[in-house]
Amino acid sequence: MTEVVLDVSELRAWYGTEGDPVRAVDGVSFEIRAGETLGLVGESGCGKSTLGRSILGLLPEGSATSGEIRYRDRNLLAIAPKEVRSLRGPDLGLIFQEPMTRLDPLVTIERHFMETLKTHEPDMSEREKRTQSLEALAAMGIPPTRFKQYPHEFSGGMRQRIMIALALVLNPKVLVADEPTTALDVIVEGQILGILADLRRNFDTALLLITHNLGIVAEACDRVAVMYAGRIVEQGGARTVFAEPAHPYTRALLDSIISLGTTDLRYIPGAPPSLIDPPPACRFHPRCPNAMAVCASKFPIETRVADGHRTECWLHGPDDEIPPGGDRPLERGEIAIAEEA
Ligand SMILES: Nc1ncnc2c1ncn2[C@@H]1O[C@H](COP(=O)(O)OP(=O)(O)O)[C@@H](O)[C@H]1O
Ligand code: SF4
Ligand SMILES: [Mg+2]
Repeated sequence: MTEVVLDVSELRAWYGTEGDPVRAVDGVSFEIRAGETLGLVGESGCGKSTLGRSILGLLPEGSATSGEIRYRDRNLLAIAPKEVRSLRGPDLGLIFQEPMTRLDPLVTIERHFMETLKTHEPDMSEREKRTQSLEALAAMGIPPTRFKQYPHEFSGGMRQRIMIALALVLNPKVLVADEPTTALDVIVEGQILGILADLRRNFDTALLLITHNLGIVAEACDRVAVMYAGRIVEQGGARTVFAEPAHPYTRALLDSIISLGTTDLRYIPGAPPSLIDPPPACRFHPRCPNAMAVCASKFPIETRVADGHRTECWLHGPDDEIPPGGDRPLERGEIAIAEEA
């Protein structure tokens, strides 16, 4: 097994608001090894982007974090912001959801690349910088003839590919890709997934691939983590989790992709809760077809289902933690009582 590059434990991230904070990430733990891809899935609003951004130290002002994000020998939450900034690029890369937010409209693609390399690879010769940039762009299907053009001269899909090339030119050790293919057509999506696969094979990159597309996870990920309402409710080998999902939410997600091509997961009744005041105990209990009395009264404890496969759901025990009678089905009225408590 390869080295653990990123080791996250008990991570919490919240946004300050006028009233109570939004607890977007509420105690998650996972690790990613060199050359491994972890897919992070879940409906929108479950905290995936917040989790991705916390790793890069890119949460907006007014937000806060606790827990540990260990990158090699450093806890990114404990070191100075300046040090985190210097790791961004060569060590920690990010591919954003919206490409236009990061390309400067006044600056050519060439300048974007040269500046990035100048900042992070000061010893590299001009010539080498140019070669590396053109190679990264070529890998994304952007020909050298377009090097001196401005962002507005490219289509949305091309800008997205340029952004990816810009993140990849530094060969980051950890790459967070947040819905990198959502806005793209299927062909470009395939190209990007191929490039991400090459990247981890050739450079041992640890990849966190955030997506709501379970097809992508099945195709591109070694392991998968399922996020619901700020928690990782299940994680394990992608094949195992797909073949034998343990958590009712994972099952619901998998059922919802029966109709491929839809991007929203409207087949799960209800919606993820507000993260200001989520349901007590198991956060999924108001939507769960298997909910039991214990689910509305006691926070589920993470249990091991199989090797490397864990879930946070009372269906999987531990049985000695379930109070007497706690395993009877939850009645509708009881949900309301538990929520008010
Ligand atoms: N800047 C912000 N300020 C306050 N709340 C935010 C901010 N960004 C996201 N949120 C809230 O945090 C929760 C998680 O959001 P996000 O991490 O974007 O989830 P996902 O990527 O899974 O859709 C949501 O309830 C969202 O409304
Ligand atoms: S803990 Fe209970 S409510 Fe939550 S997912 Fe499991 S069975 Fe459903
Ligand atoms: Mg998101």
